[in-house]
Amino acid sequence: MPKLLHLFPLTVFQSSVTPEPDERQQMVQAIMEMSQTRIAQKKPGIMWTGDLNGYGLLHNDPRFARLFARFTQPLQDYLQVLSIDASRLKLHFTRSWGTMSRQGDSTQAHSHMQSHLSLVYYLLKPADSSGISFLNKTPPNQFAPNLFHPAVAGSGLVREPTPFNTQKVNLEPQQDDVLIFPSNVLHEIPQNPSGSTRISIACDIVATVTDSSGLEYLLPDPASWKTA
Ligand SMILES: [Fe+2]
Repeated sequence: MPKLLHLFPLTVFQSSVTPEPDERQQMVQAIMEMSQTRIAQKKPGIMWTGDLNGYGLLHNDPRFARLFARFTQPLQDYLQVLSIDASRLKLHFTRSWGTMSRQGDSTQAHSHMQSHLSLVYYLLKPADSSGISFLNKTPPNQFAPNLFHPAVAGSGLVREPTPFNTQKVNLEPQQDDVLIFPSNVLHEIPQNPSGSTRISIACDIVATVTDSSGLEYLLPDPASWKTA
């Protein structure tokens, strides 16, 4: 019997948190108000994101304080999945923002290179609204260049797309789901087919070590930093 040994998989952690009804209402209202400001993303069909429109610090906004406290558990669980000693790390929300997607809106593929971990929470997620796609243009099993490109898949050469033979995997999170993944992973939001508004909250998180002695590759605690 042949065996399949899957080496170096990407893990997207999925969990959920449940805000109180009044809490959700307050956060939805806050992001609706923020979205009235549109400095960037003025072209139709481009999803509004708070970070590009002056609202990139929701973690310091009292209206979101209870929600950010709820993220502690999923983040700890994520570290545990990877067998990381959470007591030696501090996770810092460095940037966080609302996103608002109306019918036809999308974002193109991007990653958050300035960050270590990305967390996305689905505050308002109609059942028929867009999910999120993860991309890897050089997936480990792709033995010929672009063999797993969507255009090749469309030709029928790859008979059935699976997580083992594709450059793109689409997930369909539900309202209140939390996704956590490495920030360097390319992702995009497909065009929103829903006539109802979809709101998510995205967070950039940086990890530092409480004691950096003997650790060359991780950031020391910011309390020891000095502004140049
Ligand atoms: Fe993103």
